[in-house]
Amino acid sequence: TDGVLVDRYGRVARDLRVSLTDKCNLRCTYCMPAEGLPWLAGPELLTDEEIVRLVRVAVERLGVTEVRFTGGEPLIRQGLVGIVTAVAALQPRPRVSLTTNGIGLDRLAPALRAAGLDRVNVSLDTLDPGRFDRLTRRPRLDAVLAGLAGAKAAGLNPVKINSVLMRGVNEDEAPALLRFALDHDYQLRIIEQMPLDAQHGWDRSTMVTAEEILTSLRTAFDLSADPAERGAAPAETWLVDGGPARVGVIASVTRPFCGDCDRTRLTADGQVRACLFATEESDLRAALRGGADDDELARRWRAAMWGKRAGHGIDDPTFLQPTRPMSAIGG
Ligand code: GTP
Ligand code: 5AD
Ligand code: SF4
Repeated sequence: TDGVLVDRYGRVARDLRVSLTDKCNLRCTYCMPAEGLPWLAGPELLTDEEIVRLVRVAVERLGVTEVRFTGGEPLIRQGLVGIVTAVAALQPRPRVSLTTNGIGLDRLAPALRAAGLDRVNVSLDTLDPGRFDRLTRRPRLDAVLAGLAGAKAAGLNPVKINSVLMRGVNEDEAPALLRFALDHDYQLRIIEQMPLDAQHGWDRSTMVTAEEILTSLRTAFDLSADPAERGAAPAETWLVDGGPARVGVIASVTRPFCGDCDRTRLTADGQVRACLFATEESDLRAALRGGADDDELARRWRAAMWGKRAGHGIDDPTFLQPTRPMSAIGG
């Protein structure tokens, strides 16, 4: 490598998250308005070859060891299986994962597994069909459940479930979600909602906190300290009823983990983001299309990460939500 992606605080980014599209086939109320958003135009999107080239630079020259594909909804990107195949063939081989809403995963999981996908995280906020339809504005709960089962059957391991709890919507569902996850051998993580929605409607007072999540889970389960090392993982984990099953809580807002952050991000239109909440981006697409060689791309990527801020700043009085919405960053 020609040096790692280190920032001025000494954090090293080994985990690359690549958004493959800003489009989605759901319309979760905490993410997008019913009518959707002004999507990126075709020519703005990186091609499959451009994505693989940039990931190759990250893996071969910048020390990235984990590559996660996100969206929007990554399963709706036509070239996904080919991209996974090419990335899993890089040396040294990175771990390859996907964050998806699960729709179509039953059909795609075997091909993705064969292409080299290691594991998958599936978003599922409620098990109640009526709630699901209201929350996502699409009647697709059965498709998501089939996707989860298909992922497991195809040998993806672990299969994680991400649930965002919202007050007055699904805040009572943590125990039911955990019961479901235990029954099917999925790993549940419950997530504090962050200020990243396109509508800028986030409000701290309506956010369900990690403390509330834990209190709710403890009405039905015994949670004890997990002896496993957390490392740079966003989720804090607990042993459920003595283990070995675990549950995770991602408390980005009330218990930020920015000091241990190991992430770098690439948007579907080829911008490097040093942080989920970055207000600046670095245009690798322009460099790439302007003829930059791998050296130059690596240099620009390192420069972008050097400018990463210490933390998300949600608690600062001057905090400004990034203009790019969650669906175009990839979470
Ligand atoms: P694992 O490697 O399986 O732990 O994946 P992950 O939890 O990092 O990724 P996933 O895409 O499943 O995201 C789960 C939740 O964590 C989402 O709400 C993400 O927005 C959030 N998340 C992921 N990365 C970061 C991060 O760097 N900072 C913050 N604050 N939240 C993050
Ligand atoms: N805060 C926290 N998590 C969110 N997600 C989407 N929007 C938010 C938000 N505002 C979750 C999705 C998905 C993951 C990529 O991020 O549910 O599981
Ligand atoms: Fe890293 Fe930014 Fe997430 Fe903090 S908010 S953990 S710095 S990406």
